[in-house]
Amino acid sequence: MALLKILHYPDVRLRTKALPVEDFGPALQKIIDDLYETMYDAHGAGLAATQVNIHLRLAVMDVRGEGQQQICMINPEVTATNGDQVDQHGCLSVPNVPGDQLKRAAKVHLRALDRFGKPFELDAEGTLAICIQHEMDHMNGKLYIDHLSSLKRERLFKKAEKYNRRAHGE
Ligand code: NI
Repeated sequence: MALLKILHYPDVRLRTKALPVEDFGPALQKIIDDLYETMYDAHGAGLAATQVNIHLRLAVMDVRGEGQQQICMINPEVTATNGDQVDQHGCLSVPNVPGDQLKRAAKVHLRALDRFGKPFELDAEGTLAICIQHEMDHMNGKLYIDHLSSLKRERLFKKAEKYNRRAHGE
């Protein structure tokens, strides 16, 4: 396995629309293992292939951490949503930004393929529902900050700048 390099905002490659996975062979299996390793190393709850410059509709998630709830979703589709929820959002591709409140669907019904190409369906709520919506955005070249107003976005980046300056002892 290997750690992959995570692209950071404003890298334009994060804006690529990913293509459906068609080949579930050894090359894909290695990508999935590397995605899990990279996600755990970065202490993330989800990682889309887009974020490591692999433009396939594929993401790994583990909202409980430590391998307790590993989900690999390939060519995912949300077929139903229900309600609203607001959650503190962050993203491994937008580091040193404290995250912000963002409204998402409270419940989603997911239809996807697993790592071997077998279809599965899942009803998700809470953090997992948020994570599914967040990772699917990545596959469409979208970042969570795109959902914020430009004023909010500016405020976040000012905060991040301050953190970064402090971290560098300026
Ligand atoms: Ni993200």
